[in-house]
Amino acid sequence: MRLLVTGGAGYVGSVCSRVLIEAGHELTVIDNLSTGNREAVAPGARFVQGDVADVAADVLGEESFDGVVHFAARSLVGESVEKPELYWYGNVVETLALLEAMRQTVTPRLVFSSTAATYGEPEVVPIVESAPTRPTNPYGATKLAIDHAIADYCHAHGLAAVSLRYFNVAGAYGGAGENRAIETHLIPIVLQAALGIRPDVKIFGTDFPTDDGTAIRDYIHVADLADAHLLALESAISGRHAVYNLGSGTGYSVREVISTCMDVTGIDIPVQEAPRRAGDPAVLIASSDKAIAELGWKPTRTELPTIVSDAWDFTRTLAEHTSA
Ligand code: UFG
Repeated sequence: MRLLVTGGAGYVGSVCSRVLIEAGHELTVIDNLSTGNREAVAPGARFVQGDVADVAADVLGEESFDGVVHFAARSLVGESVEKPELYWYGNVVETLALLEAMRQTVTPRLVFSSTAATYGEPEVVPIVESAPTRPTNPYGATKLAIDHAIADYCHAHGLAAVSLRYFNVAGAYGGAGENRAIETHLIPIVLQAALGIRPDVKIFGTDFPTDDGTAIRDYIHVADLADAHLLALESAISGRHAVYNLGSGTGYSVREVISTCMDVTGIDIPVQEAPRRAGDPAVLIASSDKAIAELGWKPTRTELPTIVSDAWDFTRTLAEHTSA
């Protein structure tokens, strides 16, 4: 397929672009490079720098595209609480412009990066797609608003769309991985501490109602996530908006993640206990049964040591290049 990929210079977008190209798709990547890196854009993709709202209509108007894979977004929960305007404009307004450009150019397919944050604090885990959606921060609220807009475009305009609700994405693939100017995610932070790039790892909250008191998350390998995007593109049906959770179905506590990182790296990583981070739920675990049954998705890298090991290779290589 000829595909437009937004946010292809970011972490998930850059890995998925590589997997899409390997599968034979032809890519044009749009990214404003506000948080992404130009060098992360997949080799072989055409690159256009700009905001989605500014450039998507022109790009889609140049030639006929089979679909859009929409990663471009702001995605930091804490920042979304402090600066909601960045999220309502940057996520919702930009995506509405993209949907309009797709409608006007009759671009048939959309795969959208939704999130576990659309559910908020779950009543029941594992979380299924029919669970209540009660986001606890503007990030989740904006992604949920976009999901609603996409559903309306499918119903009214025959768009074929799939929203993939990612849980905690980690790992690396094909030379692409987590490389943010400001890092807030647990696994890259722990690995940076292992390398001495930061002095220690803070455990945010040791009083959660879990066995070891720390928060539990469901970590999914970014390459497994990318495979789901391939399947989502193939499965999309005109007039239907399908929603799938993507996780490994296993929860690991913050302490378990740190201990796995110590095992994989062989390095004793200094840890500090700290208060909870605002808005962090105690336990988030996905049920991916729907994606497995309907998309035929087969995640193959579900073990945490595999995910950490791939992230470790990437983090070390990045650190070597940065210090060189
Ligand atoms: N954590 C620490 N110390 C750190 C960083 C994180 O203890 O230095 C903890 C967090 O408090 C949380 C867990 O590790 O309990 C995982 O935190 P991350 O920041 O790696 O990931 P989140 O679960 O907060 O967020 C992820 C995605 C979001 C998405 C969310 C869905 O990064 O984009 O899942 O709930 F919205």
